[in-house]
Amino acid sequence: MALETIDLTPRIASQVRIAKRDLLAGSHAGEIRDLLVARGAIVIRDLFLDDEELRTVARSLGDLRVGTARRGSDGKVLAEGDGGVLKVSLDPKVNPDYARFLFGNQLWHMDGTYLETIPPFATMLTPFALSKEGGDTQFANTYAAFEDLPRPMQRRLETLTVRHSLPAALFPAKRDCTAEEFAVWASYPTQVHPLVWQHRSGRKSLVLSTACARILELDATASHDLLLELMAHATQEQYVYSHKWRMGDLAIWDNTGTMHRVLPFEEGSAREMHRCTLNGEEPIAAVRDVEVVA
Ligand SMILES: [Fe+2]
Repeated sequence: MALETIDLTPRIASQVRIAKRDLLAGSHAGEIRDLLVARGAIVIRDLFLDDEELRTVARSLGDLRVGTARRGSDGKVLAEGDGGVLKVSLDPKVNPDYARFLFGNQLWHMDGTYLETIPPFATMLTPFALSKEGGDTQFANTYAAFEDLPRPMQRRLETLTVRHSLPAALFPAKRDCTAEEFAVWASYPTQVHPLVWQHRSGRKSLVLSTACARILELDATASHDLLLELMAHATQEQYVYSHKWRMGDLAIWDNTGTMHRVLPFEEGSAREMHRCTLNGEEPIAAVRDVEVVA
């Protein structure tokens, strides 16, 4: 039987109705993956997955990341969650190694672009405790944002490359940081990616994130202005779905064709989300048939 799906907005996000036992059995995994890539984000309600069930769903959809990350500041190797499940919380008691970076989640970003040549394919999130106010997660469709640009603009963007860095990702969220904090962020590696990703499918998306530090082919002013212009374009209402969380929800997003952010919530909140990440499956590739602009 085909999956029952509802479009949550015209351009991004679908809700899927599927019984928990069917989801865990992976019986619709291929359809869910296709829908994820086609619609950018998927929401399934009333699942109440525990950590092992979350891992099971993740494994049915891709290659669950169970890994470690080397911290830039001191080279310390950190476990990325418990068997692939990372607790996303601003409370240092819940997650001492990550809480001090997660404030950056309030700015539009893709996961992993400053660290990896192959960024994660998808991310899954389910709440274990909600904030009293705010805390909605938003998703923006970077395929649709690119497809709507005028062709001359698309051609220009297809020739550009961008350096992604952790300071670029975090500084706008904490402009009053200390010199020591900034030095820790700056100790992480950076990556250069094409501004436009031509996926294996042939479709093209913007590789856009607050982590975009500099367009290498432009001077600093032109780079800054164009990045701001593109971010404003790509986060217009028609490209964005805002998810208001309920306990029991599962949200999955295609990290290769969307940006995401969390809306602010009260300080000291117990908000706790459990996250699984699916490893990337293709590197960010430049457009194969760039037209030379006369
Ligand atoms: Fe993220």
